Amino acid sequence: MTAQPNYRPPKRLFERETSALSSVSAAIVASRLNWPLMQNNLTRADLDAVIALLQQEDPKLTHGEHVLAFEEEWSRWLGVRYSVMVNSGASANLLTMTALRLLKGPGEVIVPTITWVSDIASVLQCGFTPVFVDIDPHTLGMDTRQVLQKLGPNTRAVFLTHVLGYNALTDELLGELEQRDIPLIEDVCESYGATFKGRKLGTFGLMSNFSFYYAHHLTTIEGGMISTNSEELYEMLRMLRSHGMVREAHSRNWRHSYSRRYPDLNPDFIFAYPGYNVRPTEINAVIGRSQLRRLDENNAKRRDNLRIFLENLDPQKYFTEFRTEGNCSYALTLVLRKPDEALCTNVMLTLRAHGVEFRRGTAGGGNQLRQPYLEGVVPRGIWHDYPEADHIHFYGFYIGNYPSLEPQKIEQLCALLNSLSGN
Ligand SMILES: Cc1ncc(COP(=O)(O)O)c(C=O)c1O
Repeated sequence: MTAQPNYRPPKRLFERETSALSSVSAAIVASRLNWPLMQNNLTRADLDAVIALLQQEDPKLTHGEHVLAFEEEWSRWLGVRYSVMVNSGASANLLTMTALRLLKGPGEVIVPTITWVSDIASVLQCGFTPVFVDIDPHTLGMDTRQVLQKLGPNTRAVFLTHVLGYNALTDELLGELEQRDIPLIEDVCESYGATFKGRKLGTFGLMSNFSFYYAHHLTTIEGGMISTNSEELYEMLRMLRSHGMVREAHSRNWRHSYSRRYPDLNPDFIFAYPGYNVRPTEINAVIGRSQLRRLDENNAKRRDNLRIFLENLDPQKYFTEFRTEGNCSYALTLVLRKPDEALCTNVMLTLRAHGVEFRRGTAGGGNQLRQPYLEGVVPRGIWHDYPEADHIHFYGFYIGNYPSLEPQKIEQLCALLNSLSGN
């Protein structure tokens, strides 16, 4: 456990950080590691693939054959039957929750306290009640024991996020959900390529979500994917992506069944659901297809980088017992072992002084319960009941991890961090 019983974290975060940082000495600034949070993942080959598309006689750029081909290649890579590409990971979250609502009706959805805003926003936007659980510090994902405690007759799904490359699944969770017939939805936006018991994350849930934004394991500039083994959901998601239009269904039988049922409607303009327009373009798909070819190779380097980082950090000062089996690191996770204001300030000073970009609170802005978008949804101060998420909020950081990062640089950073003192 990282959190201390009865510990009350600092009230302010931003001011403390900035006032301390203003005292960085010019001497330290000289020895910079120049380590940005993310690095451009688009290569010449990806750009050439786009140019080849544009150089065609009359290229069709709205979603078409490349989107379909990328969806099929993605499904094969992941090990699922169907995938639907959308214009972002947030859109993948939104369509997934919309489909769940259409299938299951209103009720509760169990969500984590450390995740990205769109996971919880999509739950709210679709009229579900979010039920929050604290995290397991070893995975930063939902604590299985707490999820099981919060399951009830109104639970419509468990919407789990695999955070920063760590697997959040356990046998106990999967077994219980299967026994109770409660759907699992996986957000794999930060963790694709990671596995649980040798099987890729994103193949366990009823639906799974992926983001192809700039800094992710694969980028399509902007983009996302929903994967599923259910044909019904596949067709529903295809329609929801394009205004709820029936002609977007893949199967001819599916389309015909609607035109037979609604003979007074033009078959080209039957709207089965109140849908959205969250379509990707052919340009995004061409980049995705080009990137997919080197995804596994890149992921192997990300894993190595995390291993070097955790092996070299001082476990007295930093939490290093992450459950790394099957991980596919998105970022390097630096979490103070104890709430320690002095060490925390020294870490931030040192990272800034050496040109190492970081985010305090990890990727999604820390404990979501503290965010203003949840004011009026949850009572003020409820965040104190989620001490592990709160510890990450104040004493957890993420540092960029990408395939081109040199091992010596990681070792150098660990030596610097290990030399810091606290209270
Ligand atoms: C866990 C998680 N879910 C959803 C998203 C949203 O993805 P996007 O930025 O593509 O909308 C992100 C973004 O990084 C994320 O980390």
